[in-house]
Amino acid sequence: MHTLADPRNALKLLKRLERRVQIVHGHTQIAGQDYPWARVVDPDRLLEQTLSNDQPESAVLDPFWAANWRAAQGLDRYLGTLTINPQTRILELGGGSGRAGISAALRGAQVCITDASSMALIMCRYNARFLTDHVQVRKLDWSNTQGFEQRFPIVIGSDIVYNPSLYPILEPCMRQVIEQNGVVLLSEPQRHTGDRFENWIRKAGWRCDSHLIDLEDGQREIRIFQCRLNPDAS
Ligand SMILES: C[S@@+](CC[C@H](N)C(=O)[O-])C[C@H]1O[C@@H](n2cnc3c(N)ncnc32)[C@H](O)[C@@H]1O
Repeated sequence: MHTLADPRNALKLLKRLERRVQIVHGHTQIAGQDYPWARVVDPDRLLEQTLSNDQPESAVLDPFWAANWRAAQGLDRYLGTLTINPQTRILELGGGSGRAGISAALRGAQVCITDASSMALIMCRYNARFLTDHVQVRKLDWSNTQGFEQRFPIVIGSDIVYNPSLYPILEPCMRQVIEQNGVVLLSEPQRHTGDRFENWIRKAGWRCDSHLIDLEDGQREIRIFQCRLNPDAS
């Protein structure tokens, strides 16, 4: 049973979303529960529209928040293998529509979901409307972390290592937001860019172990990178 904290606020968020995109309401499995889930009807169309607008790269990246990425389902399942104590503080980078962060919150954590895209933040707030005592949503662009002072023992990110040109801004951001001895958990569907990330992050001074999560959907397993700063590199 999911209880809505403030229906008027939820309605305002929905109206802001619907001014830009068509939303469909349903349910999805998160943290082993049937959770109310809103999603963009046609994320591909949104992407095509944005690409054809000849906008700067930051805006072109924008619509990726709207899709349902398998990597988020993999991270959801992986979080289920961990012991998450109530009050464990978790930060999500590039949260998109919020599935991985919401999974952590449903498992009892206190979660801060972040993204650079303002539409993604609205979508996250809307999808997390039943979990307002566990979820905070904040803007965080990896290229400009000024003013973001919080550090976390666990940082998560699903499908955020797809573009190697972003690694030089993602890695310093990871360094800034992680507590000493903390861990960054990143999921991706075993793309070639994931292999590149694994090599790149090791060269940048991190230990990186990987695990595979089978979604039992006939596709490749989801790879989880478990990244910890080498002691001499912090
Ligand atoms: C492929 S989507 C994945 C979204 C979500 N994590 C998921 O798995 O459904 C990548 C996300 O990274 C975000 N992103 C891209 N560049 C970013 C940046 N410089 N700072 C913060 N977020 C960024 C995008 O807005 C988008 O939500």
